[in-house]
Amino acid sequence: MKSGVDLQRAAMAEICSTRDDWSFHVTSDPLTRFLRDRRLRTALHILRVRGLLEPAKQSALIVCGGVGGEGVFLSRYGFTDVTVSDLSEEALAVCRSLEPRLRTMPLNAENMAEIPDSSYDLVLVQDGLHHLPRPVLGFTEMLRVARRAVIVIEPHEGLVGRLIGTEWERHGDVVNYVFRWNRSILNQATRSYLLCTRAIVLPHRMWDHNVVVGKLARRFSERWRLLVAKAVYQVLRPVNRLGNMMVAVVVKPDDNPAHRSGQCAAPKLS
Ligand SMILES: C[S@@+](CC[C@H](N)C(=O)[O-])C[C@H]1O[C@@H](n2cnc3c(N)ncnc32)[C@H](O)[C@@H]1O
Repeated sequence: MKSGVDLQRAAMAEICSTRDDWSFHVTSDPLTRFLRDRRLRTALHILRVRGLLEPAKQSALIVCGGVGGEGVFLSRYGFTDVTVSDLSEEALAVCRSLEPRLRTMPLNAENMAEIPDSSYDLVLVQDGLHHLPRPVLGFTEMLRVARRAVIVIEPHEGLVGRLIGTEWERHGDVVNYVFRWNRSILNQATRSYLLCTRAIVLPHRMWDHNVVVGKLARRFSERWRLLVAKAVYQVLRPVNRLGNMMVAVVVKPDDNPAHRSGQCAAPKLS
């Protein structure tokens, strides 16, 4: 039997061999940019307000980065040291053609053994962990190789996801279960791996229905499209706490032993 990882590798190879238009990742069309970048901007905002965002000085690793959508975004945002990793060599080849400034690295997100602990300031995944057979293992690997913070943008567990969300994603014969996160899962996975009371876990819940919102906005003339899309998400804002998407930041405690003062000591057993 093929493992879930082998199936995902085959699926992405097939997608890359049949699709030749990836321009939506690099387009400057304002509506597409708004829809595609919204979640990433939210994550960076969470870091910025805590004084933890310094694009020009920070290194970033993207996990399950596919053909490089998040890499292109970070690079345009001002990050100069961005590595896009993915299981699929074919996807990484497309990534290099879209943005030659990006570094690429073939990597199984469940086992990043070749990367030493605390190698990258930021480690980010978007729509990737739920393709893994062991999503929490992928997440704890991200925690291990991150020096400062991890960004996780994945489906949020909840009533709406259960009622109308996809439970099994299919691409031809390849299937993966859509693992949905919430505050409790994120918190527990973080603490059990880091053995640390002082890691900061910041899950943010929001709505994300880009296909539907994009279709709706494109019914309007070009000058109104962006406004319509923004208005839809603005209307949904008061009920973000029921949203289908998690944009989470986990901040690791300072590595510097001089600043540590027992930050990462596990709570004492009595
Ligand atoms: C839905 S795509 C998302 C790509 C990108 N994050 C984006 O949003 O455009 C999922 C990606 O996860 C990758 N993937 C699946 N399993 C993986 C694994 N075990 N390790 C690394 N990447 C994996 C696939 O090759 C694919 O590129």
